[in-house]
Amino acid sequence: MAIRDVLKMGDPRLLALSAPVDEFGTPELTDLLTDMRDTMRHLNGAGLAAPQIGVGLRVVIFGFEENPRYPEADPVPFTVLINPRLTPLSEALEDGWEGCLSVPGMRGLVPRYRELRYTGFDAAGNPIDRSVKDFHARVVQHEVDHLDGILYPRRIRDLTQFGFNEALFPGEDLADD
Ligand code: NI
Repeated sequence: MAIRDVLKMGDPRLLALSAPVDEFGTPELTDLLTDMRDTMRHLNGAGLAAPQIGVGLRVVIFGFEENPRYPEADPVPFTVLINPRLTPLSEALEDGWEGCLSVPGMRGLVPRYRELRYTGFDAAGNPIDRSVKDFHARVVQHEVDHLDGILYPRRIRDLTQFGFNEALFPGEDLADD
């Protein structure tokens, strides 16, 4: 299929509320997911949400074995998650560094729930129900935020902890996102 252009922060389409998918297993959904996967892998992303390629549907993908953009992170299984719902499993928040393909070259320190349950559907409409923590939980929260028009800089509590990769982490090659 195709590597698609990723919208950048400032594009109003990234601020929109996305609509639920109401039909699974369609050629259109298959093509969308193929394009999302090709685009995410091409850019070494940890995840991608449909609105980032200009499609206002509640579809996210995430997962990686080893990611040069997040070298310290534990692997997360590749997942297609449609119409997701998140439920925190505790009130505990944890700060962690995030980047985003829509905010290239930057990182920010973002508080997220450390443990959560997520439910939703895969591409064929089969239910998904997982309880996860740490980076897996972080990635899901970041991607689902995109479906509600929220980019991670809005979650940063201390804007001194937001900047360009090469300035925040000199000498670390965090890739050319
Ligand atoms: Ni993002």
